[in-house]
Amino acid sequence: MEERKLQDLLESMTLEEKVGQLVQCNAGQFIANTMEITGPDGEMLPTEDLCRVMGSVLTFENAQQAKALQEMHLTADPKKIPLLLMLDVIHGLRTTYPIPLAMGCSFDDDLMTACADMARKESAACGVHVTFNPMVDTARDARWGRIMETNSEEVLINSRMGAAYVRATQGENLAEKDSVACCVKHYAAYGAGEAGRDYNTVDVSERTLRETYLPAYRACVEAGARLVMPSFNALNGIPSVANRWLMNDVLRGEWGFDGVVISDYNAVGELVPHGVAKDLKDAARLAMEAGCDIDMVKNAYYLYLADLVKEGIIQEETVDAAVMRVLKLKNELGLFENPLHGADEEAEKRLYLCEEHRAIARRAAEETAVLLKNDGILPFSGEVKRIALIGPFAEETRLNGFWSRPGAEKDTVTIPEGIRALMPDAEVIIEKGCGAEFADTDRSGIAPAAEAARKADVVILTLGEPENYSGEGRSRAELTLPGPQIELARRVIEANPRTAVVLFNGRPLVLEELAETAPALLEMWYPGTEAGNALARLLWGKANPCGKLSVGLPRSVGQYPMPYNRMNTGRPKPPPDNRPVPFSSCYLDMPNLPLYSFGYGLSYTTFAYEKLTLDRRSMTGEETLKVTVTVKNTGKLPGKEAVQLYLRDPVASVVRPVQQLIDYRKIELQPGESRDVEFTISEKQLRFIDFNCREVSEAGELQISTGYADHLILTESFVLK
Ligand code: GLC
Repeated sequence: MEERKLQDLLESMTLEEKVGQLVQCNAGQFIANTMEITGPDGEMLPTEDLCRVMGSVLTFENAQQAKALQEMHLTADPKKIPLLLMLDVIHGLRTTYPIPLAMGCSFDDDLMTACADMARKESAACGVHVTFNPMVDTARDARWGRIMETNSEEVLINSRMGAAYVRATQGENLAEKDSVACCVKHYAAYGAGEAGRDYNTVDVSERTLRETYLPAYRACVEAGARLVMPSFNALNGIPSVANRWLMNDVLRGEWGFDGVVISDYNAVGELVPHGVAKDLKDAARLAMEAGCDIDMVKNAYYLYLADLVKEGIIQEETVDAAVMRVLKLKNELGLFENPLHGADEEAEKRLYLCEEHRAIARRAAEETAVLLKNDGILPFSGEVKRIALIGPFAEETRLNGFWSRPGAEKDTVTIPEGIRALMPDAEVIIEKGCGAEFADTDRSGIAPAAEAARKADVVILTLGEPENYSGEGRSRAELTLPGPQIELARRVIEANPRTAVVLFNGRPLVLEELAETAPALLEMWYPGTEAGNALARLLWGKANPCGKLSVGLPRSVGQYPMPYNRMNTGRPKPPPDNRPVPFSSCYLDMPNLPLYSFGYGLSYTTFAYEKLTLDRRSMTGEETLKVTVTVKNTGKLPGKEAVQLYLRDPVASVVRPVQQLIDYRKIELQPGESRDVEFTISEKQLRFIDFNCREVSEAGELQISTGYADHLILTESFVLK
């Protein structure tokens, strides 16, 4: 529809119809056609009225429901304004790929693109118009359950992978039936909640906000994301959904965002318990004044926005501007001409879990796994007749992670299935050994498990935390393996030295004992649909681990906050010295450094970083610096390697990190092959946020290194003029 006709449509709408465009309801209350809609105070809302005026719904399951919802609404709406259908597609719709935190460990934007592209096709067929993704909240505290949902503790990875996700999902033209609009979230700094507790208050300086958190949302906006979702948390005293500075000054003012802002689930209503709104009507006022266009569920806008306009508290022009943004989005998606967009049951049958998508999911599961330790028992080799598969995840189907679609566990290739497909002649003995829940205390399975291990040629010991222990509302104060898993590990490893410990978890866990005792330690995170196939291929060397940690793994929860790009302090403790040095910035009872650092990960082959060269020793702001890192595969197997580039600015107007990732590239090398990996560094990549919150670069000596955090090598200096 031409934009001028949108204006005509807007002018033809009643105030009630305008407000309706800013109301989002749960699809379930219409699909079931039985669920009554209750307002925040429990009063019943008129289903028919809402169905007629509402502008969007969230959370439905398939194309059939999508069509029914659209038809139900368009039948009721005299203005025939199509619904927006929105859904959380976080790491795959029906074919599930690894959780975002695992995807960050690939250090491969192209892999993110491939997975996003697959998810887009399945989402469009399902009838999705908007996905509430990418989530790009920089997270540095594993107590926060939603750390599983972001790519990294490093904002550069979140920025690049988030932007890659947006481009792959939205494509060039949203009106294309298989395009899906992106809603970047949760704006802003949701991952910095105090004490790692979900929904908790965030208090960071503007400088830290602009340096560590905002760039990822901005990268997604600049990549074209059409919606932004403010976060639940209060940010420096003001909840994001009522934060005018955040939404009007920064998002729309500085960044020029002209898309739709949609609240998180009842975040408008939560302004009352936050303590900034005296009641729901006041909450509706605050959110509308701050620039929140759509109220997601609980209906503060539905109940009170029209009254606020009639009482002159909210100008109708403000509502009109919000409604026009929503109508423009619907028009960009081509919904006025084609309200069903890509909903297509035939396409669902063809695409869901198809071999092409399974192959992408399998590749992602293989390339996001991080080999933390290997005493040489991996890859398993030689004649293997008897395999002991032990632990609480041995036969687990829920290996997809939070936000996987309901029923995803039915699609999972389990570990036994994956092993039997690859090793059809081997005997697989399965012993659970113990549970993985907090309440699990039964140790009676440990002895039989140890006995099974003793008799086996190789042992696969599966440990971790249950799928629903991370994700939204799943914060933990401790990061231990729940239940008697460590006792199980002790007995099994003692029984058979050819034991590979495989971890399934959605957050960094404290693994200190396992790091000491496990002959091999493989972090699989939640690998998704192809879990069993990917793990079997990794263990038997059909795939070579190449993941690198996108978040450091702590020795203790007491080390948090523990960002890899830490400051030196005035009394640095010389890493990696593990002895406490009195009167230095250290602990008396533990080293400062994480157990495993950001950027770390092993391979079945070995790589030599032979040299790092700069094409110049000084550069102006208009020039670029070419950095060449020569890497050689010095082992016997082909392998992929994430080459990382770190910057240090030893003297600046504010303290700067001892190491800051400024670029990365994934390469593949055959045995004996050497490659010059070239990076072009611009002045923009050397910038930081100064004391006055300006993005600046400063003249002086800078250092460039490669390797990985806390293990920088081949450092070279240059001067920025
Ligand atoms: C949830 C989440 C948000 C999600 C939304 C809709 O509470 O915070 O990430 O997109 O509600 O499900």
